[in-house]
Amino acid sequence: MTRSIVQGDAVMRFRDRVAVVTGAGSGIGKSTARLLAGQGAIVAVNDLDPAAARAVVAIITGEGGQALAIAGDAADEAFVDDAVAEVMGLCGRLDILVNNAGISVSSPAEDFEAWDRVIRTNLYSQFFWSRAVGKAAMIPTQRGAIVNVASMAGLAAVPNQIGYVVSKHGVVGLTRSLAVEWGRYGIRVNCVCPGITATEMTTGPTGMEPERLKARVGRVPLSRMGTVQEQAETIAFLASDEASYLSGVILNSDGGQLALHSGVMM
Ligand SMILES: NC(=O)c1ccc[n+]([C@@H]2O[C@H](COP(=O)([O-])OP(=O)(O)OC[C@H]3O[C@@H](n4cnc5c(N)ncnc54)[C@H](O)[C@@H]3O)[C@@H](O)[C@H]2O)c1
Repeated sequence: MTRSIVQGDAVMRFRDRVAVVTGAGSGIGKSTARLLAGQGAIVAVNDLDPAAARAVVAIITGEGGQALAIAGDAADEAFVDDAVAEVMGLCGRLDILVNNAGISVSSPAEDFEAWDRVIRTNLYSQFFWSRAVGKAAMIPTQRGAIVNVASMAGLAAVPNQIGYVVSKHGVVGLTRSLAVEWGRYGIRVNCVCPGITATEMTTGPTGMEPERLKARVGRVPLSRMGTVQEQAETIAFLASDEASYLSGVILNSDGGQLALHSGVMM
């Protein structure tokens, strides 16, 4: 079943595959788009920021890969349906969906506006893309791999981030529900829960306060942040045929942090 093909030094695990990566203009999504394209996939690069999406397409083509930009709001139902139709029209197939777009907002539990915005962006987007890709491409062909990006906040609470925590718990539930419901179509649905990873969301100007970041990293058993490359490798593994019997898996990629339930440091 595994059909990795080695071309030069690169393993072309995704040759002849078409993938969509949402929120791929930056961070984990960008790294995932480059990795999938570097291993043979044609990658549709979605981002809210059109310039960022185009820049990632330029990087991928400069690296010898194939990509197209599909800029727009990943949580806009009509846009998502149109974007999937566009990819299907251009490429004729869609094998891999990486639901990565997400935002993090710190706000008290009483703030409905923040709750609504974060849940719409992080959770509704994953439902809309999964439904559109499932209906247009994966259910008819009876195959496909969906990888949803959640967070450690999908498995445990984080203070002052109720919308983020609830949205990511929802992503875990969405993953399990789709894995159960779409298994009969040969569609695998899995989820990655990244721990603290160096991206705009954490180390960027609008990211975490340095003191808070230091404290968070201090609680990681591997004593460092994850890299976008490490998260991309985990996502790509779940999207690949090497994971052909994995579905409904919630995979922590967190340097051991969730193993530390006691809260006691060494
Ligand atoms: N960085 C971390 O430590 C960390 C930890 C756990 C989970 N995550 C998750 O990983 C995913 C990627 O995060 P990142 O750290 O790479 O963030 P990032 O901010 O570097 O990148 C997110 C990208 O998503 C895009 N985006 C935001 N809203 C969008 C929308 N509505 N439609 C389309 N694109 C949109 C942004 O423009 C940006 O390019 C998110 O789902 C996040 O919750 C990140």
